[in-house]
Amino acid sequence: MTIQLLRSSVANTYSRFPVTLVRGEGCKVWDDKGKEYLDFAAGIAVCSLGHCHPAVTEAIARQAGTLVHVSNLYWTVPQLEVAHLLTENSFADRVFFCNSGAESIEGALKLARKHCHENRGPDCYDVICLEGSFHGRTLATIAATGQPIFQQGFEPMPSGFMHVPHNSITALKLAAGRRTAAILIEPVQGEGGVRPVSDEFLLTAREICDRLGALLMFDEVQVGMGRTGTLFAYEQTPVIPDVICLAKALGNGFPIGAVLAKEKVMSHLSPGSHASTFGGNPVSCAAAKVVIETLTSPGFLDSVKEMGTHLKKGLESLADKYPKAILEVRGRGLIQAIEFREPVPELASKLLEEGFLVLLNQKKILRLVPPLIVTKTEIDAMLTAIENNI
Ligand SMILES: Cc1ncc(COP(=O)(O)O)c(C=O)c1O
Repeated sequence: MTIQLLRSSVANTYSRFPVTLVRGEGCKVWDDKGKEYLDFAAGIAVCSLGHCHPAVTEAIARQAGTLVHVSNLYWTVPQLEVAHLLTENSFADRVFFCNSGAESIEGALKLARKHCHENRGPDCYDVICLEGSFHGRTLATIAATGQPIFQQGFEPMPSGFMHVPHNSITALKLAAGRRTAAILIEPVQGEGGVRPVSDEFLLTAREICDRLGALLMFDEVQVGMGRTGTLFAYEQTPVIPDVICLAKALGNGFPIGAVLAKEKVMSHLSPGSHASTFGGNPVSCAAAKVVIETLTSPGFLDSVKEMGTHLKKGLESLADKYPKAILEVRGRGLIQAIEFREPVPELASKLLEEGFLVLLNQKKILRLVPPLIVTKTEIDAMLTAIENNI
């Protein structure tokens, strides 16, 4: 059977590009015809150490030959090691492991409700989220997501979610109250078009949570794990959240998610209250261990910052050169975007034809999230390709 015929067996939930990718190495992938692509999508901000990073591949292969799965009825060494690395490098004392971004947000939402119920009573369950946010595709996470398009056709939504305009301190103050269990924020909105949340907004959110006894929760699924130039995005903000959610780059492509919190918060999830069969599986943790060790190795994050600055400067000079086409450049570290004034729906397809993979949001925001090992030469090649298509 040809690959074309086999495609009809897969649920039609994605508008896929008409290519089949078969191999990857570093910042490049190849399709089944042998065509090479420079990958600035990185599996949607996942393959941060590049495709098939030798140490990750070796760790996965070694663990696959040792112990693949036993469930969380028992301790496993890779899970303990990753929990230690994550807590040692963050504000958190405890980690709940799961398999994806949506599952980590679900875990955080359940944690927020339990924390609030036990501290402040059962009618305290509202989670304040931001317009334009994206938190996943399960029912609770689409309810948290601040983009109605993801909710359409799936109503009724689970209750207890409120949305305030991005960076609107007045709206946040008005929304918060006795029933607020948590405020959920992406420090830089990813799917929403690479929009950083202001320091003032975050400080207000922190102050409200402290006053009410609510949790400040950061969705770092897309912008955590070195993407912004620090291991966690919260490190570049003036606040420390109570909870962070991770996934995507944590396993460099091997599925794993995590919820991180301080002991006094995570202690509200007691044995039996939350679980995941595969969460913290030995093979995914073997991959995550290499990822964290590499990201925290001397000089790695400095290079992410340097490459981020190089990319941003390049995009800004395109914005200066083409002010009629480009509205704005924004981002932090190696998550950068160009917002065009008019929709450019064909741009991602045109770049694909020329051998470049990019992400396009809302038909006019070009989002670039290359592997964090990207070089200046690769960035310059991408900038030239974009300029050729403006
Ligand atoms: C900020 C954010 N949160 C949550 C998710 C959901 O992650 P997953 O697709 O792994 O469920 C995403 C996915 O793009 C994301 O960008």
